[in-house]
Amino acid sequence: MAGNEPGGFVPLDELTGPRPTLAVETAVPAAVPIEITVKERYDTLAQAGTSNLCCAPQAIYTPDQLDGIPQWVLDLSSGCGAPLGAIDLRPGQAVADFGCGAGLDLILAARRVGPGGRVIGIDGSLSMVRTARRAAKETGHTNIDVRVGDIRRPPLRPSSVDVLLSNCVLGMFPDKAQVLEAISEALRPGGYAVISDVVYLDEVPEGAVTTGEADADDYARCVVGMTTDQYREMVVSAGFDHVDIRDDGSVAYRDGARVTSATIVAYRGQPPETPCC
Ligand SMILES: C[S@@+](CC[C@H](N)C(=O)[O-])C[C@H]1O[C@@H](n2cnc3c(N)ncnc32)[C@H](O)[C@@H]1O
Repeated sequence: MAGNEPGGFVPLDELTGPRPTLAVETAVPAAVPIEITVKERYDTLAQAGTSNLCCAPQAIYTPDQLDGIPQWVLDLSSGCGAPLGAIDLRPGQAVADFGCGAGLDLILAARRVGPGGRVIGIDGSLSMVRTARRAAKETGHTNIDVRVGDIRRPPLRPSSVDVLLSNCVLGMFPDKAQVLEAISEALRPGGYAVISDVVYLDEVPEGAVTTGEADADDYARCVVGMTTDQYREMVVSAGFDHVDIRDDGSVAYRDGARVTSATIVAYRGQPPETPCC
C-alpha cells in the first residue's frame, strides 16, 4: 500500500492494475422541470416557423390590428387573448411583454407608444427571441428591444415599466405567483399589468390541476387553469392594489379546442384618474 512505501509513493502495479469496480448508480434520473420542457417545445416551434399551440391571431385580433403584420409572425403567434385590445397605451410609455413569442404584441404596442416610447420583449426561447427581433426589424420598429430571459427573474430594472403585457404565458407556470411577483417588481408605482390567459368560467374540471399531476402538454397548451375567481384571488394575493378582470369569451385553439379567455388588468398603486381601459 502507498503508506508502506518509503516516501509514501504508490507502487506502479497499484496505479496500473485493474480499477476497483464502482457501484453503478441505478437511481432514476431527476425529472426535467415542466417549465424547461415547455420552453423547449416553443423553441422547436420557433425553429419550425409555425405554431400548433394556443390560438391563431386571426381568432383573437381584428383584421385592422393585424394589418401590416408579416404572415410568418402570424403563423408562429400563440396568444389566447388580445391584451392590447383592453388598454389605451400612450405615446412615450415603456412597455414590457413577458413571454413575447414571435413578437406580435410587441409590434402592436410599438405602434401605439410611438418612437418616443419603448417596448421590451422577454422570452425564454432563444429561437423565439431571434424571431421577434426579426419581426421588429422587418416592420421598422427601432423602439423594440427583445431579450432572452426567464420571466421569473427578468432582465429588467425594478420599477422600470409603465405597462406590462403577458399573453397566454402564466398558464404555463406551475408557480404562477412567482411570475406575478416579478411582474409587480418590474412595474413602476402607478403602472399596471394586462394579462390574457385561459380560465374556466365555473369549476375547474376534474383532471385539470394547477400543480402536481398535470403534464408538460397541459402546460404548453396553457390550459392548466383556474376559474376566473381563483385567478383574481391569486392576483390580489400577489400584492396588486386593484384588479379588474374581463371575460373575453370563447376562443378557438389551433387544434380546434375551444377555451375561455380572460383579460386581467392589475394595478400597482391606485388606478390613474383617467383609467387606462
Ligand atoms: C403560449 S406562447 C405565447 C407567446 C406570445 N405571448 C404570443 O402571444 O404569441 C408562450 C411563450 O412563453 C415563452 N416562455 C416559456 N417559458 C418561459 C420562461 N420561463 N421565461 C420566458 N418565456 C418563456 C415561450 O417561449 C413562448 O414564446
